[in-house]
Amino acid sequence: MKEPPPIPTPEQDAALTPIMGPFLKRQVLVCTAKSCAANGSEAVLEAFKAHLIEEKLLFFKGNREGEVQCGHCGSVGFCAIGPAVLVYPDGVWYAHVTPADVPEIIECHLKGGVPVERLVRKRLG
Ligand code: FES
Repeated sequence: MKEPPPIPTPEQDAALTPIMGPFLKRQVLVCTAKSCAANGSEAVLEAFKAHLIEEKLLFFKGNREGEVQCGHCGSVGFCAIGPAVLVYPDGVWYAHVTPADVPEIIECHLKGGVPVERLVRKRLG
């Protein structure tokens, strides 16, 4: 039987994976599954990306020093109260998020470290 290839070292993985650098601090996930999408979550996701780019906070190919990775996720069970937005490593789950809420979440939570309580519905950890 053929031996499986060796598992790369963390240093080898880091050389191939810029997101493993020292800059990334938070991840924002916007649910884009059926119910949240029906309530406008794609617009919420686009608002996050646009504002994070404006603030030079978004981690992407054009900014490897960005502090925030932003993407979409599948349903997390907030279907009746979406759009759902999850912020890690804080473990803060927001509900009823609209594009108009995005600048406040970025300013207060992502930049200031203080979650926007009126939108928080669950905390993990
Ligand atoms: S569809 Fe978004 S939480 Fe279920």
